[in-house]
Amino acid sequence: MPLLAAYLLPDLVTAEQLAGRTVVVVDVLRATTTIVHALAAGVREVQPVPDVEEARSKTAGWPAALLGGERGGKRIEGFDLGNSPAEYTREKMADRTLVFTTTNGTRALQHARLAKKILVGAFVNLSAICRDLQGEEDVVVLCAGTDRQITREDVLFAGAVTDELCRSGTWQVNDQAEIAADAWRSAVQQMTAGSPLATLLRASLGARNLIEIGQERDIEIAAEVDKFDLVPVFDPRSGLISVL
Ligand code: MLT
Repeated sequence: MPLLAAYLLPDLVTAEQLAGRTVVVVDVLRATTTIVHALAAGVREVQPVPDVEEARSKTAGWPAALLGGERGGKRIEGFDLGNSPAEYTREKMADRTLVFTTTNGTRALQHARLAKKILVGAFVNLSAICRDLQGEEDVVVLCAGTDRQITREDVLFAGAVTDELCRSGTWQVNDQAEIAADAWRSAVQQMTAGSPLATLLRASLGARNLIEIGQERDIEIAAEVDKFDLVPVFDPRSGLISVL
C-alpha cells in the first residue's frame, strides 16, 4: 500500500527521513502561493535561497534576475518585489529568473533537498498537485509553518491533499495526515455552511501576521483554490524551481 505522511512542521522530520520520497512543500501564506503565481505569470524559474545576502550576491551583475522575498512579511530593502502574490504579474515576470528568499518557505524547501522529487504546493494549485501524486508510492506533505509554529493554513492544505488522495485510493496514512484531514473535513463543513476558505484562513497565525502589516488581501488570493493548473518542481541539484 502506498504511504502518505504529513509533517506539520519541518522540525518534525529530519532531512534524512525525507530522502528518496516525493515531498510536497507548502507555505500557503505566502511563499508557495507566491512561487506558483510567479511561474504562472511567466517567470522562467525560481531560485529559492535561505538568506538575504546570498540572494543579493546571486543577482549582482545579472540583469535578467529579479530579487523577491520578505523578512517580517515586508519587502527587503533593495529587492524588486516582496512576498505578495499580487506583485508577481506577467509584465514583471516574463522571461526573468526570480531569486527568492522568505523566512519559512525557502527553509522548508531546503529541508526537502534529499527527496526524490520536490513539488511546490498551495491551494492555488491543489488539484494539479493531487493529480501529479497519483501513482506515487511514498508521499510526504511538508508544512513550512510560521516561525517554527504549526499554522492552520498549511495544516488545511495537508488535509485537503490527504482527503483527496484517500478518496481515490487506499493509502497508509500517518497520524499528522489524519489530524490534518480531520481539520480539512471540518473546514469543508464550515465552507458548506457558507464560510469561505479565506475566512477560515484568517484565524491562522500566518494570516494574523499579514493582517497586522496591512497585507490581508493576500489571504483571499491564497484561498483561490485551483486558480492555476501547474506543478512547480524544485530540483535541489540546480537549485531551481520550474514548471513540470
Ligand atoms: C515565509 O516563507 O516565511 C512566508 O511566506 C512569510 C510571508 O508570508 O511573507
